[in-house]
Amino acid sequence: MTVFSGKNIVVCVTGSIAAFKTAIWVSDLAKEEALVHVIMSRSAEKFITPLTFGALSGNLVHTDMFMGEANNSMAHIDLGRDADIVVIAPASANTIAKLAAGFADNLITTTVLATRAPVLVFPAMNSRMYDNPATVRNIEILKGLGFTVINPGSGMMACKEEGQGRLPDWDLAKECLAAALAKQDLAGRRILVTAGPTREAIDPARFLGNRSSGKMGYALARCAKRRGAQVILVSGPTALSQPHGVERVDVKSAREMAKAVHFHAEDCDVIIKAAAVADYRPETSFTEKVKKEGIDLNLALIQNPDILFELGKKKKQGQVLVGFAAESENLRQEGQRKLDRKNLDLIAVNDISATSSGFEVDTNKVLLIDRSGEQQLPLTTKDGTADLILDRIVSILEGKL
Ligand code: PMT
Repeated sequence: MTVFSGKNIVVCVTGSIAAFKTAIWVSDLAKEEALVHVIMSRSAEKFITPLTFGALSGNLVHTDMFMGEANNSMAHIDLGRDADIVVIAPASANTIAKLAAGFADNLITTTVLATRAPVLVFPAMNSRMYDNPATVRNIEILKGLGFTVINPGSGMMACKEEGQGRLPDWDLAKECLAAALAKQDLAGRRILVTAGPTREAIDPARFLGNRSSGKMGYALARCAKRRGAQVILVSGPTALSQPHGVERVDVKSAREMAKAVHFHAEDCDVIIKAAAVADYRPETSFTEKVKKEGIDLNLALIQNPDILFELGKKKKQGQVLVGFAAESENLRQEGQRKLDRKNLDLIAVNDISATSSGFEVDTNKVLLIDRSGEQQLPLTTKDGTADLILDRIVSILEGKL
């Protein structure tokens, strides 16, 4: 199950050299279980064939207003009415001008006029055309009409000129589509998420760490952003790329994480501590690499600050504090104990003894415990788990729990 599962997505491809890139978008959306319907303009067919989009989407590609005449169907009404979102990618200067003027001269323009779904426009063209005052004006008109226009990227264009006009990479575009499909129930909320492991230095080469990959915390940050929140992600060292539109603060040790979290905590409506923070650190951290012979096998450790416990002590009225617990036994009791001791509103308890949940894997199965009771979440993707945790947080924010 993904954010795109079962969603009706109409992808309108217009005449631009970037049309071939949209094939990758369609292919990925179909893999993510979306129902993808492609409409191509006449000029788009000069750059890429309908056969490609048909094979990738698994659906008939619409190229003509009057294709459905034989069976009496009205494609522009059906496609527009059934769409969850309409995506125009690449959007040529010509199609943008037609949409700005309200034209209804082909299947793309008529479908857009007929839909009530959000319309996302991805302009892609030569940078001189993009910068032309007529195009600039037309894009402003589209924004004023309620379309979401995504700025093109910059770089070397097909015409060998540098400038702005490139179709954005799919990972950025995908986030725009996901946000357009998501409920905006966290709009106006400021959310702090911690993710990943901490590293406690022994010397410049060695550290004490743990198995956290950061995937759970990054999923929470990404899904909260999609749902309209302003997100600050305090991240230990991970190999993950920064979720789009999220402010990331990189830290290494537990003490660095504590400093960053306490700096931002005051202004946040919700704090979610998904990071696996080292409880202890070496008493001495050497500035030079310790020779093998010089390492004392009894490494002396001292306790790190418990960031969540400190946050619980100074929690503001109305602020929602969410902890995680990584447990291999007595999940319920350990979760309840941490919820009470750290003054939390919600705790997500991972079973780290299972192979498909907890550290490193892409799926998770957590037990949620809050002041009103508990909820066992199903085994699902970390994005799916994140959305279910955020649902619970929204209920707490709205005073429903
Ligand atoms: O990153 P992944 O590979 O996706 O794995 C996800 C995860 C298993 C790391 C994550 O979902 C998780 O369970 N994180 C919390 C792990 C943990 O540190 O549990 P804990 O029981 O030791 O700590 C309880 C809570 O106190 C946690 O919210 C932790 O962030 C916080 N804590 C702990 C110690 C400390 N010194 N300061 C803290 O704030």
